[in-house]
Amino acid sequence: MWTVRPPSKIRGELKPPGDKSISHRAVLLGSVAQGKSTVQGLVFGEDLLSSIHAMEALGVSIETKKGNLIIEGKGWEGLAEPQQVLDAGNSGTTTRLLLGILSGRPFSAVLTGDASLRSRPMRRVVEPLSQMGAHFIGRGEGDRLPLAIQGGSLRGIRFVSPVPSAQLKSALLLAGLQAKGETLVEEETLSRDHTERMLSEMGVSVTREGNRIQVRGGSSLKGTSLKIPADPSSAAFFVVAALLIPGSRIRIKEVCVNPTRTGLLEVLREMGGKIQRINEKTLSGEPVADLIVESSPLKGVSIDPKGIPSMIDEFPILCVAAACAEGMTTLRGASELRYKESDRIRTLAQELHKMGVRVREFEDGLEIQGGIPLKGAHCQSYGDHRVAMAMTIAGLVAKGKTTVHETDCVATSYPDFWQDLQRLVT
Ligand code: S3P
Repeated sequence: MWTVRPPSKIRGELKPPGDKSISHRAVLLGSVAQGKSTVQGLVFGEDLLSSIHAMEALGVSIETKKGNLIIEGKGWEGLAEPQQVLDAGNSGTTTRLLLGILSGRPFSAVLTGDASLRSRPMRRVVEPLSQMGAHFIGRGEGDRLPLAIQGGSLRGIRFVSPVPSAQLKSALLLAGLQAKGETLVEEETLSRDHTERMLSEMGVSVTREGNRIQVRGGSSLKGTSLKIPADPSSAAFFVVAALLIPGSRIRIKEVCVNPTRTGLLEVLREMGGKIQRINEKTLSGEPVADLIVESSPLKGVSIDPKGIPSMIDEFPILCVAAACAEGMTTLRGASELRYKESDRIRTLAQELHKMGVRVREFEDGLEIQGGIPLKGAHCQSYGDHRVAMAMTIAGLVAKGKTTVHETDCVATSYPDFWQDLQRLVT
């Protein structure tokens, strides 16, 4: 439980933890690569530990040395049948990418997770992986964990994705690398492309034409040395805090600015936010930059549904920015948000309402009337790390005291969030 009151401003420098999506991929891809991979700058949150423990249970040797990971990959064939149920905890990325990897392995495994993960849809990956030749048994006709998988010989597919999901795309690409022939995944809007970039870093040829990604079966990955940039989804909480608290100015270092992840920064700029990028460079195939953020008055916007995949994890904190902006913000076409760590449309509507914000809930999004001063409240996280951090930032701009309950879940992606916040507030 955390209690906050408005600080006078926030100032200073910050390096948020390593990007969660890229960290998962480093562990999973490093584990199926040939040879050693060394990974620096990972986020050792609960989610990543789920990926590490799963790969260890599949026989991969992973060592932690001074905050870096050393993964001894022995190729696809190096994975062995696990002797226990694999527990992915709260992590959708671990589950879905692992299902892609396990689809091509000639053994069986059982995957489960916490209550939130057990309620999230898996049919989206189970169906195409079944078409490729893997076999599944699970609750809701294979839609929910616990799921049993029997992998084996796969054939490549051409798949038009019904949802823009990087987890789905990545699962199919990882299965496709083990399949006969080519596998092609087409998306309406390109989802985050970290898998494609890391595969290229590991020597695999990935072809991209527009929003179509193709890999060839029988490709092997080569172990490599990787540096993980800071997570833009974790940086987002401090970006919004600095914009909203008058007199603030912060610098956030080495943030991943991959265009499939910068939707929030673009929307905040359109709202009037002063956000500058400096020191642009490339780290292990990913574009990174330092962000300089200064407090700015914001105005409401109507968000183009096409941009949603590039800010899908930033919705909770975007809602807080919208609540403090002058005028109306509309975000529609985002029904995927109902299937995240919590139903984020419902949870944000409920929690902002407690702070006096006028919110209208739709099946596929929210309409937020901004500009009415927020009042302190008792907020719930629903066990969702991003809701907990977003409501804490809302508490910094609300009148009076805000208490956010159930904040342990923040360890999922940002174990030092509270310490970083304490350091910047004055
Ligand atoms: C992720 C993809 C997104 C995102 C999640 C991480 C990834 O999910 O919301 O937090 O690492 O590939 P979807 O693939 O379900 O859109």
